[in-house]
Amino acid sequence: YNINVTLSTAKKEKPQAEKLQFGKTFTDHMFILDYSVDIGWHDARIIPYQNISLDPASAIFHYGQSVFEGLKAYLTKKEQVLLFRPDQNFKRFNQSNDRLCIPHIDEDLALQALKQLIQVDREWIPKAADTSLYIRPFIISTESYLGVAPSTHYQFIIILSPVGSYYKEGLSPIKISVENEFVRAVAGGTGTAKTGGNYASSLKAQQQSGEKGYSQVLWLDGVERKYIEEVGSMNIFFKIDGEVVTPMINGSILEGITRKSILQLLRYWGVPVTERRISIDEIKQAYVDGKLEEAFGTGTAAVIAPVGELFWNNEKMTINNGQTGEVSQKLYDTLTGIQTGALEDPFGWVVEV
Ligand code: COI
Repeated sequence: YNINVTLSTAKKEKPQAEKLQFGKTFTDHMFILDYSVDIGWHDARIIPYQNISLDPASAIFHYGQSVFEGLKAYLTKKEQVLLFRPDQNFKRFNQSNDRLCIPHIDEDLALQALKQLIQVDREWIPKAADTSLYIRPFIISTESYLGVAPSTHYQFIIILSPVGSYYKEGLSPIKISVENEFVRAVAGGTGTAKTGGNYASSLKAQQQSGEKGYSQVLWLDGVERKYIEEVGSMNIFFKIDGEVVTPMINGSILEGITRKSILQLLRYWGVPVTERRISIDEIKQAYVDGKLEEAFGTGTAAVIAPVGELFWNNEKMTINNGQTGEVSQKLYDTLTGIQTGALEDPFGWVVEV
């Protein structure tokens, strides 16, 4: 594929590794691809990072027809650049596109564009432990039209951001509260698609839980308000009496690539692991019985985030004394080891740029 490259003349200052926050600094370049209904996707280009100019009537501003992805690039000790399962992200991108009536992108073109963009901004990949280059591919609908209909024009953009840990707690266990009032998504809705609206609708609950001192909310299903779904920015796992369990894919939760990888790792190790419906009552009972051994979230941004406390119905459940559990730690070490090239990758997950 032919991608036109225009290099930036001015280089921005790079942030210090210790000061890296999630998603606040962006690199010198970006990738853009346009779509119009008569010519399809066209004009692939890498340009200096800059504002985009859109008509105020653009569909994206009104009805939120958009999708996004999140993945990371890592620098190995030998200064190779690795991506973690990028094919999975672009596949899911198209699944989200389907749900939002956005035309498919060519997954091979997207991967090539990403690799070229990373090569251009290679110096931006942070080197310190637990840092990486977060990649945000997204599509916005750009037709100027106020009718509610799939847009005839889109832009596919990739931006890059050097990041440290997603949570202010770093790698220490986070506290989450179970949400009883609001719901995130229902089967048949857009919950499995990575679209901005899911995250917009999560903010109210997230804000209220933040006021009570919690980092994230744990969503329950939208129908019975009983079964565990996912956490704001990650999937959730529990270790109960030696067995690892996670909510099964049910049409309303996000099918996490880290989730899938963790299931594969646990099975490879021979740890008993089940994907099924898990009620909040079951978690409470396991806690009361002293069988709730660990809880952790999984996500690209969050990596493996141990959960030290779960708050539900005015009661606190402290998990593993608020400490990182053995399985959570081992998963974190192994996953980040594979991602950064420090450990062997028996699954063929990493791709060199
Ligand atoms: C990710 O883990 O990459 C996400 O997309 C979650 C969040 C930052 C929205």
